[in-house]
Parts: sequence; C-alpha cells; structure tokens
Amino acid sequence: MENAILSIKNLRVVFEDGFVALGGVSIDIGKNEFVTLLGPSGCGKTTLLRCIGGFERPSSGEILYKGKDIIPLPPYKRAINTVFQRYALFPHLNVAQNVAFGPDLRGEDKQKTAREVSRMLEMVGLAGYEKRKISSLSGGQQQRVAIARALINKPDVLLLDEPLAALDLKLRREMQLELKRIQRESGITFIFVTHDQEEALTMSDRVAVMRSGEILQLGTPEDIYNEPQSAFVADFIGDSNILPGTMVCDRKVRFLNCEFACVDEGFGEQAEVDIVVRPEDLKLRPMEDKLENVPQGVVESLLFKGVHYEMKVRSGETVLLVHSTHARQVGTRVKLFVAPEDIQVMHKSDCSPDVLKKHADRAK
Ligand SMILES: Nc1ncnc2c1ncn2[C@@H]1O[C@H](COP(=O)(O)OP(=O)(O)OP(=O)(O)O)[C@@H](O)[C@H]1O
Ligand SMILES: [Mg+2]
Repeated sequence: MENAILSIKNLRVVFEDGFVALGGVSIDIGKNEFVTLLGPSGCGKTTLLRCIGGFERPSSGEILYKGKDIIPLPPYKRAINTVFQRYALFPHLNVAQNVAFGPDLRGEDKQKTAREVSRMLEMVGLAGYEKRKISSLSGGQQQRVAIARALINKPDVLLLDEPLAALDLKLRREMQLELKRIQRESGITFIFVTHDQEEALTMSDRVAVMRSGEILQLGTPEDIYNEPQSAFVADFIGDSNILPGTMVCDRKVRFLNCEFACVDEGFGEQAEVDIVVRPEDLKLRPMEDKLENVPQGVVESLLFKGVHYEMKVRSGETVLLVHSTHARQVGTRVKLFVAPEDIQVMHKSDCSPDVLKKHADRAK
C-alpha cells in the first residue's frame, strides 16, 4: 500500500509456553482508515493490538510506522493510543481527571485541558460528568470515559479493543455511529477489535477476519460478505448455507444433487469445493413454476423476524435457511432457485469439515 501509516510484516508472537498466538500476520493500514480485526475468542486480536501499541514484543516480524521500525519504542513514544478491552480507568480520580491524564502528564495548560475534557465528554455523550467518581458510573459510561481519555491525546492511530462490549444494544448502535463520526472528523486511523460481525461490517473500511493467529481474509465489508474465500469466513460472517459441492467445469457447479450455472472459474474440473448461498439469495418458487433441473424442498419451519421471515426448507438430507419477505406455510412444497451470481464457490480448507458438519447438523 502506498500511503500506509502502519505496515505490519510477518508478525509472529510465540509465548513462553510455546503457544503461537500470531503465526506471521501481515497487514498494511492506510491513513485515516477504519480497520477492524474480527474473529472468535482466542484468535489473537488483543495480542496483535498489544504489539502495535507496544505492550507486547513480537518474537519476529516488523511493525513500521510511517516507514520506521517502532518495535524498540515503548508505548508512550508511539503516536498510538489504546483503549483496552478492560478499560483500566484510575478509580481514585474523577471523570475529568481520568480524561485529563495524558495532557496533565505532558504538563499542558490546565485551562485549555479543562476545555478539551468537556469537549471530549460531550463527544462521548457524558457532558456534565466531570466531577463524578469512576465507581459511580455504569460499565458503559466507564467505557466511554476510556474512549474520551484516549481521544484527547489526538493520536495518529487509535487502537480500540472491543470498546463497546459492555454497552446495551441501543447505546452500542449510537456509539458505533458516534465513533465512526469521530474517526471521520478527526482523521485518526482506527484499528478496532470486535467479535461482533455486524459491528465489523457496519463500521469498517476494511475487515480482517482472523482465526488461530492468522488473517484469513482482508477486504471491504462487501467483499467479505459477498465473496468469502473460505467456509470459516462465510460461516463467521452472517447467516449462511454452506454446502459441499463439485465444480463440474468453469461456470458450472453441482450441489444439492443438481447442476447450477455460476460465475466462478479456475477451480479445475470435478474439483471438490465448498458452496455458500446467503439465506436472502435462496428463492422459493411454487411447484407450478417452469424451472427445470432445480432442487425441490418442503418448508419445515416459519418464523417472523421483523424485517423478513426465516424459513427452514428441507431438500433431501439438507436443511436450508431462507430469508424472504414472503411467508410460505409449513408443509408447502417448493422449487429452489439461486441466481448464478449469488452462488459463491470456495476452495476446501482445513476448517471445511467442522463448518460443513455444523451446517449439516441443522437437518437433525
Ligand atoms: N502470556 C501468555 N502466555 C500464553 N498464552 C497467552 C498469553 N497471552 C495470551 N495467550 C493466548 O494467546 C491466544 C490469543 O489471545 P488474545 O488475547 O490475543 O485473543 P483474542 O482474540 O483477543 O480473544 P478475545 O476475543 O477472547 O479477547 C489465546 O489462546 C490466549 O490464551
Ligand atoms: Mg481480546
């Protein structure tokens, strides 16, 4: 990347007990970019942030900030601030003193700092909370103080480790928008950690999906959602149907005992692959429809989900998840249609068996 503010190359972290927490991670992060690290618990998200922030020394690899190696620098010498997963406020200081901690440490003008503190508290929705004790705040309020405390330092890069985890859904949504606005207006580069896929997709310019100390896929939210490259990513991001299939030849794939036209090429002939079809892309058609050589199924369950109906449709040994604004009653026989561009073909990977089994278990 040309204008990368941070360039991470082949970063490995092996802990004393031999555990490989990061197995060679590489990622370039652009100025003013909002990048999210997304992945299950234990995949190495916090470890990667700790390396960037300077709290963990990698076993090998490089971290370049504006082209310079920062691994030897202690955290306070990096233009990087961190909002930790456990937000580490000072319990003996009030809200304003917590937020003012950085500027006070640098000996900045008290009155200017007080004004900045009020501005930051307003930004995170805590105007007027200056004198409150930390212990008198809710978890969500404490988390917002932690964000204000980091923002006041105007770092070039802000690392946020699940900063919204303690908030209820409504406040979380508000803070998502708020953080996004702050990031756009301040020009700060955000590296954000979450294991909430919806949060990752709505907030980020790019998402890095991690698993077991590796970045499996890096791309825009649209790329990651529409074109997952492995069963793990497809399964982790949103509801899906993941099925075993065979690539018959270019642009022709077989699954659910039928052949489908698709848009994928280059997998070879008769290659075993994984298929993902999103529930909203699986169309239920009446049996009278003149579609030929398509799978058929029976609606097994119907749930109203607010925006759409969720149906489970059995086709042979497989149970498929379907989202539609049109309800079909349980017991209805249907034909199943998928447009070629809505079939995503993926190479088999080491997590295919687990993911396929989980999806097959839906039929039980
Ligand atoms: N000091 C340590 N010694 C040995 N193993 C460690 C150490 N610190 C972390 N680990 C292990 O490294 C792995 C990655 O941990 P990390 O905290 O980065 O995960 P995470 O993706 O942030 O997970 P979570 O979503 O639960 O916060 C975990 O399996 C963890 O147990
Ligand atoms: Mg973590």
